[in-house]
Amino acid sequence: MQTVQVDLGDRSYPIRIGHGTLGDFGEAYAALDLGRRTAVVTDSNLPARYLEPVRQSLDAAGVSTVPVTVPAGESHKTLATVDHLCGEFIRAGLDRASCVVALGGGVVGDTAGFAAAVYQRGIDFVQVPTTVLAQVDASVGGKTAVDHALGKNMVGAFHQPRLVYIDTETLFSLPPRELRSGLAEVVKHALIRDPELVDFLERRVGDLLSLEVEPEELDWLIARNCQIKADVVSADEKESGLREILNYGHTVGHALEAATEYRQFRHGEAVSLGMLAVAHIARARGLLGEEAFLRHNTLVSRLGLPGGADAIGVDDLLGRMASDKKTRDGVIRFVLLQSIGHASPANSATRQEVVAGIRYMQGFVPGSR
Ligand SMILES: NC(=O)c1ccc[n+]([C@@H]2O[C@H](COP(=O)([O-])OP(=O)(O)OC[C@H]3O[C@@H](n4cnc5c(N)ncnc54)[C@H](O)[C@@H]3O)[C@@H](O)[C@H]2O)c1
Ligand SMILES: [Zn+2]
Repeated sequence: MQTVQVDLGDRSYPIRIGHGTLGDFGEAYAALDLGRRTAVVTDSNLPARYLEPVRQSLDAAGVSTVPVTVPAGESHKTLATVDHLCGEFIRAGLDRASCVVALGGGVVGDTAGFAAAVYQRGIDFVQVPTTVLAQVDASVGGKTAVDHALGKNMVGAFHQPRLVYIDTETLFSLPPRELRSGLAEVVKHALIRDPELVDFLERRVGDLLSLEVEPEELDWLIARNCQIKADVVSADEKESGLREILNYGHTVGHALEAATEYRQFRHGEAVSLGMLAVAHIARARGLLGEEAFLRHNTLVSRLGLPGGADAIGVDDLLGRMASDKKTRDGVIRFVLLQSIGHASPANSATRQEVVAGIRYMQGFVPGSR
């Protein structure tokens, strides 16, 4: 088992990464000073076999568990689900010393994490992420949120987990599209921060998409990505500077998701398309060289890009970007690459540049799915 530490003073916590380790979760939990009563939150779509080892190992460690299931899907990442969770926590007798364990993807992590942040003004929280996206991104960093009818992730809190416990074996049951979408964040991490990881992905992205990798390699990959996120979050927890680089491809990506009501693209698919658009802006400015631009686009497109972005109006996308949470004083800001593996945050761009980036992206993979 490998450990990546997230350094945040007295809110520091370990990320433990292993393969086939769900049954040892209780031991890792008990090694920390955490409550003896827990709610284990999952969603209705998580393979049922993952809950039992978590519960049994907690039970063996003398920790009582109450399972709580929420309906699966982004459309249930809402205050109504948080309300439901808090009701279940009260019925289960959870008090200020108790703990919430989120077992599942980013939707479960964000919803259960936000419920833990507000229940009795905040109780302990542990993440057991089971999707690539949740393992390398959503479970690390302490952002929790639910969606509002008027915007995604609009209601939330910073609430760091006490432990992130990753069993990479769970990834083998992911539907191919979820795997692909999660790997987009892996590619993003590499492009903004880790040229060596770009080399690795150029060699192995095909094998990763079909999960033809050794457990040790998968553990290494997930740990490396957690390290990247942990380093960035440790340097800038509340996103006043460096942390913004994690939003590479996300300004356009979020606009694509919102314009299609979160139904057409998985998050990672939209981010992949968004990376193409901003790479074009960086290229057109002469920030990113031609060779790096081609390398970038080849790697991103090997993830398998969805069609259909060309059917979305450019003005619609521009309008949505202007109302993005990341926009400051009406200026849309973009993370741009300076070279492969190095990003610079907070670049403003002219309307003309953004339109050209969007058009480039729309021409890259035209057609509807
Ligand atoms: N808090 C953050 O910093 C942060 C960062 C990135 C994304 N997010 C959020 O994460 C969410 C997306 O997370 P996601 O992509 O994990 O989606 P998800 O949580 O909806 O999971 C996708 C689907 O896969 C199922 N599933 C989960 N694990 C599985 C497994 N091992 N095998 C088979 N099926 C499994 C789930 O039940 C669900 O139906 C978004 O809401 C996004 O806003 C949060
Ligand atoms: Zn993302």
